[in-house]
Amino acid sequence: MSRIEEIYETYDIMPTLREHMYRVAAVASVICDSLSLSSKEKQEIVIACLLHDMGNLIKFRLGDLPQLLAPKGLIYWQSIQEVWKQKYGTDEHLATRKIAEELGVSDRILMLVDSIGFPNGKRNLLEADISKMIAGYADMRVSPYGVRPLLDRLDDLQKRYKDKSNNEKESQQELIIAFTGIEKYIFANASISPEMITEEAITVLLPELKSVTIAS
Ligand SMILES: [Fe+2]
Repeated sequence: MSRIEEIYETYDIMPTLREHMYRVAAVASVICDSLSLSSKEKQEIVIACLLHDMGNLIKFRLGDLPQLLAPKGLIYWQSIQEVWKQKYGTDEHLATRKIAEELGVSDRILMLVDSIGFPNGKRNLLEADISKMIAGYADMRVSPYGVRPLLDRLDDLQKRYKDKSNNEKESQQELIIAFTGIEKYIFANASISPEMITEEAITVLLPELKSVTIAS
């Protein structure tokens, strides 16, 4: 068993990525507490959120992201990125999955890790698997600047797609509808509303998440 903060140290995860994964796990944790999920289900969701972007260093265009590089700097992170590409390949999703497998998490957690990410929204809604919906939705609520309303995040994504083809815009629209449906589905039975999930509400949970342990 290792604490997640030690795992992040071992894998040399960028500070900003750690902060993102802690925030996503905190949002998911608040949602789990507002529903009658078992402690096992909550633990699986939280662990999946804490691991869901482990491989993201691979996809970063580091030269364009000076804000991510402090204090170690561009040359350092470029060399780590190269090592990671050789070890895990060039697909960040596969890299994340390989790392989760190295850590010895259960098949259910691997499945939840795979369900996080904007493109999975429609599938998660169709499957009506509440754990997948919570994990994927929590990721959608966390921007690089902290917790935001779902609509803000969806607006950001729409702006990113404004110059894409009509087909891509159409599938983008379907995903926006899916995430709106997921939010409705989750909060239909929750004791809180989506507006109650704020940066202030999750900040208190961040220190305890550092002690979450992961089986290996
Ligand atoms: Fe993420």
